Amino acid sequence: MDGMPRDIPAPATANPLRELTLEQLRRRTSMKWRTYPRDVLPLWVAEMDVPLAEPVARAVRDAVALGDTGYPHGTAYAEALADFAGKRWGWDGLAVERTAIVPDVMLGIVEMLKLVSGPGDAVVVNSPVYPPFYQFVGNMDRKVVEAPLGADGRIDFEVLEDAFARVRKGAARPAYLLCSPHNPTGTVHSAQELASVAALAERYGVRVVADEIHAPVVAAGARFVPYLSVPGGGNGLSLLSASKAWNLAGIKAAVAVAGPDAADDLARLPEEVGHGPSHVGVLAHTAALRDGGAWLDALLAGLDDNRRLLADLLAESLPAVPYEPAEATFLAWLDCRALELGDDPAAVFLERGRVALNSGIPFGTGGAGFVRLNLATSPELITEAVQRMAAALDRH
Ligand SMILES: Cc1ncc(COP(=O)(O)O)c(C=O)c1O
Repeated sequence: MDGMPRDIPAPATANPLRELTLEQLRRRTSMKWRTYPRDVLPLWVAEMDVPLAEPVARAVRDAVALGDTGYPHGTAYAEALADFAGKRWGWDGLAVERTAIVPDVMLGIVEMLKLVSGPGDAVVVNSPVYPPFYQFVGNMDRKVVEAPLGADGRIDFEVLEDAFARVRKGAARPAYLLCSPHNPTGTVHSAQELASVAALAERYGVRVVADEIHAPVVAAGARFVPYLSVPGGGNGLSLLSASKAWNLAGIKAAVAVAGPDAADDLARLPEEVGHGPSHVGVLAHTAALRDGGAWLDALLAGLDDNRRLLADLLAESLPAVPYEPAEATFLAWLDCRALELGDDPAAVFLERGRVALNSGIPFGTGGAGFVRLNLATSPELITEAVQRMAAALDRH
């Protein structure tokens, strides 16, 4: 890999998306599988229908066998992440001394925003975007300001500059919460775009916090660029985690990383924040990054197949829904406006098709009329989901 675009040799490991049956999945007790009644097929919240990668399962088993369930200690997670970043993204700038473990990505974002902004300050986001950005930021006494993405799903720099100009007022300390790769569109921001973000942020005195949780999940041929690696990105703060790529949301941990010019900010992080992540979580995430590469490659190949499958199925059964496979994440952002199901097509698909997708509405401006479909499942369940969506239209 070594920072080059991934061009997929056949993976040595079996596709983890094909390993679990629907019966097995229905025994799960997590949010994805228990929110809706049994007759609903759930392809919504960002959990993956995969077994744990063996190195991760082993790390958890070993911890349990040893009763190694105390408090987290040390920098092994950050070291594994630095190594992963060097190998996968060709980035050698992740300095372990400029990292901190945090309970999870969202709480890490809250802590980073507390370091660089104050009560009442603005936090700019690119809508449509991951709904908790609105909830968490709103609940910490900051004001969310939207800078909607362009129709192509990419950052619109005129709109971003306008937002930055509006939020820079008097003694305000505005921030920009960048989602990279972007959830829900799956957009991978280019090095040039990220450098433009850094230049704009510098010009308007806006501090950048980058949520890079989906960074390991890129399609063949795409290349993730860490925000802190681009020219001008050095005073940014970034959040990374193994939680999306290895399905570890239930074994929580994440890493906050400061660029060289943000080291002093990260040094002000209250010590107790580092007590929040689970020690078993830290062990699991470390094992994923250190030893879970083959499993990840098999997953990525499976996701590439699933994106193509979804494109074929939609073209056949729901041709009014345009879909271009995205470059990253395991999510598909579907424009259903031509179906004329109103602002919330997910409600129609749920009620009439018994398939649960995310409504686009909580993603903010640009979300009405869209749904988000979770591709991290078996080809059979994706096929079944599209059939149910099409059936919902027939019944509408
Ligand atoms: C962009 C983004 N950030 C953060 C999270 C949540 O991360 P965590 O569970 O570590 O808070 C998700 C989960 O899907 C996400 O998509």
